[in-house]
Amino acid sequence: MKLLIINGPNLNMLGVREPDVYGRETYADLVAKINSHAEKIGVRAVITQSNHEGEIVDTIQRAYGLYDGIVINPAAYTHTSVAILDALKAVNIPACEVHISDVSKREAFRQISYVSYYCEKSFIGLGTDGYLRAMDYLAEKYGGETKL
Ligand code: DQA
Repeated sequence: MKLLIINGPNLNMLGVREPDVYGRETYADLVAKINSHAEKIGVRAVITQSNHEGEIVDTIQRAYGLYDGIVINPAAYTHTSVAILDALKAVNIPACEVHISDVSKREAFRQISYVSYYCEKSFIGLGTDGYLRAMDYLAEKYGGETKL
């Protein structure tokens, strides 16, 4: 099974940015954690990060026909991007949304998630473990229909 992990803007600054909100794990720690979990559960994970909305749209479009599932943390674009939502709908690949922080307890502008209109499940406020839970969910549900 092949999973595409997509990270949005400023997630490359993990460990440095607002550690009281996002913790002290760095982006490199997150990548290592996802890769070791992928090996443990027997899936292939390709991990991407971009600070640019259009590049995230391109990444989702390129996934068409190649991936069995998408785990996406669109970061700030969660709350603004119809384009990312539409790209997910266009490729129609099963997807889960992840947020490291508990957005439900934060500012009013974080209370809307456009991608949640497409994603099957949201893993919110679990720290970086949310990525692993989303991988588990997709592997359990779609692991049989594998692309690689
Ligand atoms: C985030 C929450 C967003 O509101 C914020 O803009 C982020 C990260 C999270 O993982 O908690 O950049 O998606």
